[in-house]
Amino acid sequence: MLKGRNLIDPMDFTLEELEEVFQLADKIIENPAKYSKVCEGKLLATLFYEPSTRTRLSFEAAMLRLGGRVLGFSDANSSSVAKGESLGDTIRTVGCYADIIAIRHPKEGSARVASMYSQIPVINAGDGGHQHPTQTLTDLLTIRNVKGEFSNHVIGLCGDLKFGRTVHSLVKALSRYKNNKFILISPDELKIPDYIKEEILKKNNTEFEEVERLEDVIDQLDILYMTRVQKERFFNEAEYIRLKDSYILDAQKMRMAKEDMIILHPLPRVNEIATEIDSDPRAYYFKQAKFGMYVRMALISKLLGVC
Ligand code: CP
Repeated sequence: MLKGRNLIDPMDFTLEELEEVFQLADKIIENPAKYSKVCEGKLLATLFYEPSTRTRLSFEAAMLRLGGRVLGFSDANSSSVAKGESLGDTIRTVGCYADIIAIRHPKEGSARVASMYSQIPVINAGDGGHQHPTQTLTDLLTIRNVKGEFSNHVIGLCGDLKFGRTVHSLVKALSRYKNNKFILISPDELKIPDYIKEEILKKNNTEFEEVERLEDVIDQLDILYMTRVQKERFFNEAEYIRLKDSYILDAQKMRMAKEDMIILHPLPRVNEIATEIDSDPRAYYFKQAKFGMYVRMALISKLLGVC
C-alpha cells in the first residue's frame, strides 16, 4: 500500500511496490486521457531550495496532467526561509495548504527531516550529494522500456561518482536485481563513496570494478550512465576546473560501443556528451527525461491513493 507514504530513499519501496509504480506509468503512457482528472482537487507543493529544470518541471507537469494543481517556490529566498524560518516550520505550514510535497534541498538528510515534520507525503527531489530517488524511478522506467528487464546488465557509471546523487540512488536500486555488474569509471578524486561499496555493493554480492579510462571498458557495457562533474559541491574551484572535462563521450568512443548499448544521463549536461551523439539511436537521455514525467505521474497517483 503506497497511499500516504514518503519516498526519501530508493530502498523505501519494495521491489513489488516499485513494480506497481512502473505498471501504472506504463498504463498512463498508453492512455494518458484516462488519468487526466484523477488528481482533480489535489495540490502538489514543489519546494526547491536548489536549481532544477527537469525535476521541478516534470513534477509540475505530472500533477497538471493528472488534473491537479501546483504551488511552491523555485528559489527559497522568495520564501520566509530568507527571514530565518526553519525547514520544520516551512513543512508544517505547507502541510496546511497542499496534499503532497516534493522537496529539493542542498543538505543531505533534509528530505528525511522534512518527512518527520510532515502530515502529508514527502518526496525527496534530491538532497545534496546524497540521494535522488525519483531520478532513479526515471532511470529504471527507461531501462525497463528499452532493455525489458532490470537484471543481467553490465552498467558503466561514468564521471562524478563522488557527488553524483543520481549514481548513488541508481546503484542502490539496481544492486537489488540479479546478475548486474557495475563498472565505476571516474578519476581517483571522484570515486564512489566507500559506504556505497561496503553497505550496498559488497553486502548484495554485486560485482563491480573501478577504472579510470572509459575507452578501456566501453565495449563491455549494456548501459552507459554519464554524469556531470557537480560544480556546486566542490569547495575548491581550481579542483573543479582540473576535473570538469575528465570524460567527453564522442563519436569516436561510441564506435567502440555495442550496437545495443544505451546512453543515459540524468541531465543537465555540460561537456561530457558531445552534441554529435544526440542523433545516435543509442542516446536515450531526452527520452529518459520524458519517462521522468510519466513515472512521477504514477508516483503522485500512488502516494495520494487515487489509482
Ligand atoms: N536530473 C535532474 O535532477 O535534473 P534537474 O537538476 O534539472 O532537476
